[in-house]
Amino acid sequence: MIIFKQNEDLIVKLQSIKNDGGTIGFVPTMGALHNGHVALIKQSLAANDITVVSIFVNPTQFNDKKDFEKYPVTIEKDIELLAKADNNILFMPSVEEMYPEGLEPAPAYDLGFLESILEGLYRPGHFQGVCRIVHKLLDTIQPNNLYMGQKDYQQCMVIQKLITGFNLATHLNIVPTQREKSGLAMSSRNMRLSAVAKENAAAIYKAHLYIKNNLLKLPLEQLREEAARLIIEAGFEKIDYTVVCDAFSLAPVSSYNAGQKLVVLTAAFIEGVRLIDNLPLN
Ligand code: PAF
Repeated sequence: MIIFKQNEDLIVKLQSIKNDGGTIGFVPTMGALHNGHVALIKQSLAANDITVVSIFVNPTQFNDKKDFEKYPVTIEKDIELLAKADNNILFMPSVEEMYPEGLEPAPAYDLGFLESILEGLYRPGHFQGVCRIVHKLLDTIQPNNLYMGQKDYQQCMVIQKLITGFNLATHLNIVPTQREKSGLAMSSRNMRLSAVAKENAAAIYKAHLYIKNNLLKLPLEQLREEAARLIIEAGFEKIDYTVVCDAFSLAPVSSYNAGQKLVVLTAAFIEGVRLIDNLPLN
């Protein structure tokens, strides 16, 4: 695996691959890698000539400074995992390399409704920061294929909007959420949980399954309330949202109409760590 730290060096390397007709797959990450990331890398390796993984803890997407400071950094382990997964290129730029213009003022991305709900509502500015860094990375790497996890459902929609809005020649591939045996969605943030909290945190998945399994039996609002109760009962301190939405627009849905694709999404805190997860319902 070759490691790059400068945009310019990576551009030169990737240009020579493209000149030889090679295709490039890209997996953007913030490090603290786990098997969820490995699933993205495997898909990319299988479908492209070269896979690039980036590790960059992006300061502009953290609306909470403490969350940024506490974000797990496990770079040596990450490099080992990437080498073991046969990844080809690791891009590990510094903050100065990615933001030579400084962190402020930030460009504005028009994300419309997506920015006013769920993560957009609870983490103001978060998706602006995500778009800013992903746009820069796509500019440098110009991948044929981009791989992102379905766990970040709304983020995938935001990035698709970015790709479409700027007419970028990159195809977004959304990879199903990888889960622990308990059902807990794999996430870098899980590293901050005690063993007990990790077990209890599977309650989000179980609550989502409860909604899915009872979709035709009980009114949606009743299902949603019971799901939230199950999450709190398992030891979560606070729920930002547990909400059933239209799977394509993310508009909240309060009654079930056959034919409408639905997804349930939750963000909740356990041991002070904010976890998100989602489950398509039909
Ligand atoms: O999902 C993440 O890890 C980050 O939001 C991303 C896409 C790498 C941008 O910093």
